[in-house]
Amino acid sequence: MNLTKHLAVTKTSQSRLTSVNFEELSFGEIFTDHMFVCDFKNGTWQTPEILPYQNISMAPSASALHYGQAVFEGMKAYKDATDQLWLFRPELNFQRINKSSKRLEMPEFPKEFFFQGLETLLELDSEWVKPGLGNSLYVRPFVFASEACVQASPSLEYKFMIICSPVKAYYSGSELNVLIEKKYSRAASGGVGYAKAAGNYAAQFYPTAQAMKKGYQQIIWTDSSTHSYLEEAGTMNIFFRIEDKLITAPIGDTILDGITRKSVIEWARHQGITVEERPVAITEIIEAAKSGTLKEIFGSGTAVVISPIDGFAFEGTDYRLPQTEDSFASQAKNAITSIQYNLVEDPFGWRHKVG
Ligand code: COI
Repeated sequence: MNLTKHLAVTKTSQSRLTSVNFEELSFGEIFTDHMFVCDFKNGTWQTPEILPYQNISMAPSASALHYGQAVFEGMKAYKDATDQLWLFRPELNFQRINKSSKRLEMPEFPKEFFFQGLETLLELDSEWVKPGLGNSLYVRPFVFASEACVQASPSLEYKFMIICSPVKAYYSGSELNVLIEKKYSRAASGGVGYAKAAGNYAAQFYPTAQAMKKGYQQIIWTDSSTHSYLEEAGTMNIFFRIEDKLITAPIGDTILDGITRKSVIEWARHQGITVEERPVAITEIIEAAKSGTLKEIFGSGTAVVISPIDGFAFEGTDYRLPQTEDSFASQAKNAITSIQYNLVEDPFGWRHKVG
């Protein structure tokens, strides 16, 4: 398939670039000049387009609005000192969006459309990506059911889109304290926890809001059947360091197969750090916290990269975690971001050149 011939590009006549203060960005509020759109109709993906970023029109009966048949991805583009743009392991995002779509009975998106659309969009909006550690462009591919029909059945029409938002840090607060949740669950066995389904995130808002009222910024989710094992933290995968070993929950049907998670594990093993992917019991972490062998907890995700956790609470008791400069969290963050920004060699082959 020669997509170049089929990708219709309409450029904006009025860029908004100069109106943006790149020093004062709140995550995900500002979007670049263009967006990628491709419709699925009559059983096939139609000619993809790049258009000026704009509102879209939908029927009030559009299926995604009623049944949440929608999935998304999160990736980032980085600019190095020579103004070259880079992506980080985009192949994994491509595979995962189709895995998520499959679970929600949505059509898979063609690889050629994804990559040519993504790269053309990034090149067009490259001025929106600022160089320098901490600056990046958050890229949000998503698919939703657009058929005007409220039958509770898979839609016959979909929209695949990519929008991009210049970002700095995800968490603006200085401390990240989390609450181990024993009532609400993020995901159940046999459910959609491994998919980046839109509804997985909506379901977190209420329990997270309750935790925030108690002074915590995020929740650590536990398994839905026994509430005894630690699975994810907020929208991040989670790592525990006991002595010099890293432990994280294994990928399964309740855990998101995070790309930063995978990269932390690969980096750590490359450094000679022991990493165990296995169920992490709350009791093990509490005992380690009490005995002083629990050295760190950190979250990983595209938006946050690596986010050290300062403290956690369980059944009314608060536990503090020491923050040190040479923590595994800061070493992993430094190693991964240095590769992302093309500051060092990439022994893993993670970096993907745009253009
Ligand atoms: C990401 O890290 O890309 C996420 O999915 C978090 C997002 C909900 C902001």
